Amino acid sequence: MQLGLKDKIALVTGGSYGIGRAIALALADEGCRVAICARGTGQLETTAAEIRARNVPTLAIPADATLAESARRVVDTVVQEWGGLQILINNVGGGGGREARAVEDVPEEKWVETYQRNALTAQRFTLQAIPHLRRAKWGRVVAIASVKGKEGGGRPWYTMAKSAEISLMKTLALNAELVRSGITFNSIAPGRVMFDGNGWDQFRREDPERFAQTLNQRLPLGRDGTPEEVAAVVAFVCSERASLLNGACIAVDGGESYSF
Ligand SMILES: NC(=O)c1ccc[n+]([C@@H]2O[C@H](COP(=O)([O-])OP(=O)(O)OC[C@H]3O[C@@H](n4cnc5c(N)ncnc54)[C@H](OP(=O)(O)O)[C@@H]3O)[C@@H](O)[C@H]2O)c1
Repeated sequence: MQLGLKDKIALVTGGSYGIGRAIALALADEGCRVAICARGTGQLETTAAEIRARNVPTLAIPADATLAESARRVVDTVVQEWGGLQILINNVGGGGGREARAVEDVPEEKWVETYQRNALTAQRFTLQAIPHLRRAKWGRVVAIASVKGKEGGGRPWYTMAKSAEISLMKTLALNAELVRSGITFNSIAPGRVMFDGNGWDQFRREDPERFAQTLNQRLPLGRDGTPEEVAAVVAFVCSERASLLNGACIAVDGGESYSF
């Protein structure tokens, strides 16, 4: 299938490793120019080299995406270098860590920090990107949410923040003026995704028996997903072929979630 992504200009927040890296590489494989931002410069440069090796231009922009000024700086950098922006992947996020405390004892800072990292960061990047997508008369905005944000469960501070990201995409998708200028807004809801060094990998190393039990009992496929499996769906959502896909939240979870 021709995805029609050649020469599109894309920005992936948190594109240096994990799901963001896989998305950046999948878009590069389709011929996009891909800018990535992240805090750590070492991995950022390594992934930029992987993108460049696919014969497409790349920009590696060091940034803490959660800082209020970062969205404008990162988006402006892409536009100054390449003259526009057409695809934004809001990938920066995360769960705020597990908690032994009762929910009412979890400090407010954790709720605020998790909301900021997921929902507000996506909101800021999206609002900075929209004028450029409008100018291009074509655009794709995709939030990397979570099955928890789609159907509930898990850590409430994380689930609440991920639901807000999905809600932002859905609400913008209902804005006729934006959508009729060629822009679509969608969310992807991954289930458990494993890569070297992440929380699931740590769990596997620390308690292999209980890890195997959770695979068997909670995941219909009996295994975690990979970043590449999520990225393949994201590339389709960004494509010309996905022109009728707007306001959707697509579970990419191997059947882990219970909702339809
Ligand atoms: N893995 C899963 O099981 C899973 C499941 C459902 C949803 N998700 C969602 O998928 C997204 C990606 O998660 P992930 O599991 O691939 O790994 P992650 O550890 O959440 O993210 C990795 C990427 O984000 C960057 N990053 C983290 N904080 C950042 C910040 N403040 N500013 C800029 N970049 C930042 C990292 O680079 P630096 O650390 O160098 O900044 C790296 O490039 C998140 O939104 C997460 O909530 C993950």
